Amino acid sequence: MQITLNNPLDMHLHLREGDLLKAVLPFSATPFSAAVVMPNLNTPLSTPALALEYQEQIAALAPHFKPLVALYLNDQLNKASLQEAKDKGLFLLKLYPKNATTNSAQGVRDILSPRMLEILEIAENLGFILCVHAESAGFVLEREFEFHPTIHTLAKTFKNLKIILEHMSDKRSIALLEQYPNLYATLTLHHLALNLDALAGGTLAPHLFCKPLLKTPKDQQALLELALKAHAKVSFGSDSAPHLVGSKHACSCAAGVFSAPLLLSGLCTLFDKHNALEHLQNFVSTNAMRIYGLKDLPQKSITLERKPPNLPNSILNGQLIIPHFMPLEWRIKSH
Ligand code: DOR
Ligand code: ZN
Repeated sequence: MQITLNNPLDMHLHLREGDLLKAVLPFSATPFSAAVVMPNLNTPLSTPALALEYQEQIAALAPHFKPLVALYLNDQLNKASLQEAKDKGLFLLKLYPKNATTNSAQGVRDILSPRMLEILEIAENLGFILCVHAESAGFVLEREFEFHPTIHTLAKTFKNLKIILEHMSDKRSIALLEQYPNLYATLTLHHLALNLDALAGGTLAPHLFCKPLLKTPKDQQALLELALKAHAKVSFGSDSAPHLVGSKHACSCAAGVFSAPLLLSGLCTLFDKHNALEHLQNFVSTNAMRIYGLKDLPQKSITLERKPPNLPNSILNGQLIIPHFMPLEWRIKSH
């Protein structure tokens, strides 16, 4: 049994820098046509020049892959810099609430401040898309829900701004998607395939610790239903986020699941198990093409067959673990 996916897209990806970038990039750049690449580097990509330099660096390393780098939203942006960004092809802004996650110390302290509202109005008029890490600073399982008032205000105030609720993890967010025509979401493989038990139900699994945290089986089920029918307002965004083992130990564990090597195998396995393979093309490509208005992508046809893949347990001399968080029944056919 086989399936061919055309132009798979990962609409939320962390690629990092330096040797780590070089090591993880092929896992995304080989099977995916394009990806939204996140700007939370050690030095956040807070200016058009920084974002463009990083985008060019990735493009040079992976010629048949289109990196769509998001610009790190901050209060130094203005009409001139946003116009420059747009003119040079950047069209995504990433909102990190201050200290919400990895490298967000320079994130936004008050998203509804007059200054930020001014910047968002400029972004709306220029046709940017706003990608949001939608978490409050409250109790860890309630953070996405507690962020809802901010989403309500943004969606109502900026009706022509497309807003993406990234890595949706809480079933109570689904009602928001239905309420606002300008609100969309990305869904990760790990939030669809796992719940909090996988992280903390047995021995602690640091490689499954992420922000937003995995939630209850009911949340998982509700999100999975959205994905399996390829709801028109959701796209696949892995949030694959590599951290070296040194930052992943149980005493102090960085948030992030390095899922890039198993994404297409995992998605096929999951959709197959639920007899939904016919909707996978929409979930992993067509929806995103429409929502983000993507054109001129490198053309790729990726064929997968129903056989267990052979994935290594780690790369970079054991420094970067590849978590095997679900039994994989599909593998990419070598060309
Ligand atoms: O788990 C996460 N890891 N969530 C994020 O929002 C950031 C990411 C990272 O960069 O490590
Ligand atoms: Zn992320």
